[in-house]
Order: sequence, then structure tokens, then C-alpha cells
Amino acid sequence: MTILLKTASEVEAMRTACRLASEVLDLLTPFVKPGVTTLELDRIAHDHMTRVQGGVPATLGYQPPGYPPFPASICTSVNHQVCHGIPNERPLKNGDIVNIDVTIIKDGWHGDNSRMYVVGEGSIAAKRLCQITYEAMWKGIVKVRPGARLGDIGHAIQTFAEAAGYSVVREFCGHGVGRKFHEEPQVLHYGRPGTLEELKAGMIFTIEPMINLGRREIRELGDGWTIVTRDRSLSAQWEHTVLVTETGYEVLTLSAGSPPPPAFAQGAVATPA
Ligand code: MF3
Ligand code: CO
Ligand code: CO
Repeated sequence: MTILLKTASEVEAMRTACRLASEVLDLLTPFVKPGVTTLELDRIAHDHMTRVQGGVPATLGYQPPGYPPFPASICTSVNHQVCHGIPNERPLKNGDIVNIDVTIIKDGWHGDNSRMYVVGEGSIAAKRLCQITYEAMWKGIVKVRPGARLGDIGHAIQTFAEAAGYSVVREFCGHGVGRKFHEEPQVLHYGRPGTLEELKAGMIFTIEPMINLGRREIRELGDGWTIVTRDRSLSAQWEHTVLVTETGYEVLTLSAGSPPPPAFAQGAVATPA
């Protein structure tokens, strides 16, 4: 029951894996258009990770206890799907929203991130959900520094999302990440300030809030993986992998195509030169 602190050389390896994971999302961006299937996106991502990046898609065959092996190289969660959606042959259509979650293993280290994409022209409601969820993730990220607690992150995300009129999924959380896909700690996206584990420089974990337009309750589909909202309301999620630095945080899953941080994060950013 320990949270691993990464050494300088391990952090360097994580920077590489995480940048590659973000670059897969960059690569997919122009393909996310009406008519494309999520299976086509899976193929593009798989080929890039294996042939260009020299990595391994961490989700392909991933099988935690009690689950069937995940059959694809990315997760694609459309509209009321919350997370862990399995790519399929249905074309995306104008107005859909889709989360694409990419985890690559590079030289033994995992980089894990996801973004929302609006297919064609989205509704005001869909775009607002995606935007607020992005800002909710960053509300959590800016809390990260040595001495802060995990409850500070969860509280910041929850209060922001609920003030916007949305609900926070409780059953899934962020996680430590490194040589293993899912390590300690669990990073809840709700909670009370000043509670739970104290953050220390060298910790690396994901922050990946799932925010529903309606009620927070979820259910699992018969495929053993796909999670959907019980009320079939839209759901959004964004994910970054974050390092606790001596002075604050460094977002590791960044690349040329990453959306810029919100204004409230710009001044707080404690990334290295
Ligand atoms: N990438 C997801 C996460 O952020 C986990 C996906 S596991 C899978 O933790 F098997 F569904 F792909
Ligand atoms: Co994750
Ligand atoms: Co992920």
C-alpha cells in the first residue's frame, strides 16, 4: 500500500510516454469527422503507436480481475457513454461527442490521457458540457503541489462541476501511473479539502473527471466494459497525467496539439522551462 515516488530518470521516461500518448490524440483529431467509425480511429491509433512510436497500446488485451480482455487500442465513449467504450463499426454523426482515451506503454512506462471531440457541429449544451469538464479537470490540476491533499483535488472538481449544474461520476477515479497502468493512489473527483493522502514531489497520477449532464448514476453494458449514464444523459471526460514537482505540478501529457490550459491555470502553471 505505497505510492511510488519516481526518480529523475523515471520521470524522464514518463515524460516521453506521456508526450507520445498526447501525440496520438493530436494525430486522431483531423479524422474525427461525421462518417468515421471508432474502429477506424482505433486502427489509426494502433498503427501509429506500434509502427511509428515503437510503443504498445496498454488497453489492448488489458484484463483486470473480473473483466474480459479489452479488445481495442483506444477507448471511444460516445454521447451517454461515460468511459471504457469499445470501438465499433457505427459511423460517428454530426453532433455526437466522443471521448478518446489513449494509453501507451513506451520502454515499460505508461502515458495515459483523453480528450473530448465534438463531431461536426455540436449543440450548445454538448459543447458547454465538454468545456466545463475540461475546466473541471484543470481545477483539480492547479491544486497539485507538495503538501496538498488528494481531497483538495476532488473537492475543487466537484464544487466546480456541481456549480455548473452537472454531476460527478463516483465509481471511477484517477490513479497513480508508471510501470503499472493503475497504481496507487486512487484520485477521487469529489471529496473534502484537507482529507486523504498528502502529495509529495515525485508522485505521478492521472486526473480524469467524468461529468454527467444529468444524474451521476451509471451502469455497465453487457460487453463487460462500456459504462453509460443510467438516465442516458450526455457524459464528458478529460484526462491528463500529472507529476508533483517541488513547487507545484507538471502536466506530462502535453504535445503540440494539446488544447491550451484555461486562463485560471496560466499563472499557476509550475512547469519547467
Ligand atoms: N485509460 C483508462 C484510464 O484512464 C483505462 C482504460 S482500461 C480499458 O484509466 F481496458 F478500458 F481500456
Ligand atoms: Co487513467
Ligand atoms: Co485513460
